[in-house]
Amino acid sequence: MPLLAASRIGARHDAQDWVFPPLDLVVEPGQNTLILGPSGSGKTTLLNLLAGLALPAQGEVRFRDQSLAALDESARDRLRGRHMGFVLQRLHLIASLNVVDNILLAQRLAGSAPDPARARALLARLGLGVHAERMPAQLSQGEAQRVALARALVHRPSLILADEPTSALDDANCAAVISLLLEQAAAEGATLVAATHDARIKAHFSQVLSLPGRA
Ligand SMILES: Nc1ncnc2c1ncn2[C@@H]1O[C@H](COP(=O)(O)OP(=O)(O)O)[C@@H](O)[C@H]1O
Ligand SMILES: [Mg+2]
Repeated sequence: MPLLAASRIGARHDAQDWVFPPLDLVVEPGQNTLILGPSGSGKTTLLNLLAGLALPAQGEVRFRDQSLAALDESARDRLRGRHMGFVLQRLHLIASLNVVDNILLAQRLAGSAPDPARARALLARLGLGVHAERMPAQLSQGEAQRVALARALVHRPSLILADEPTSALDDANCAAVISLLLEQAAAEGATLVAATHDARIKAHFSQVLSLPGRA
């Protein structure tokens, strides 16, 4: 069974225009997938549809053979919380919580029991063990990014959705972040679907979906 299957989905934000033409996307478990396209081509919109944060104007998205549109909003929220992890363009760490509490909060929001041992083990694996008690403002950009990755993984999601995870990074950090994302996804048995305009990371993915720019 595919992890994710989108068939003939199209999106529009207003009455006139399709954001992208109707498209198909099948993601098998372990098939890390890149959605590649210029700014404005609809990558973030597509990720939102795959996560059930919005419903397509046409077509259907199925997650583990469950139609997202057949669920009501709260059921979609629960499914997303339980099975999906997000790495967003901005990191959205809670400034008033230390690193480990940020991770535990994410776990709680996903509906799992907070598991400090799991949170600390994940932080240690990401080289952040000594930073567990620090506040987000005391982290470098790279450290904060790894905390955001730990937060996305802590509840053992089967799908990780990453929006522009590397576009603000220089070549060395870009390579490090994408390797880390793929390594950690594999270590957790999760599949990565990333969206970017950053063609540098294309070679790391077994499937690439290109969105055309809009004229
Ligand atoms: N909430 C929204 N309301 C109206 N238009 C939107 C909204 N979000 C995005 N758009 C438009 O949809 C198109 C695709 O946006 P987006 O999915 O953010 O592209 P990308 O992530 O590839 O840069 C753009 O033209 C953008 O202006
Ligand atoms: Mg975007």
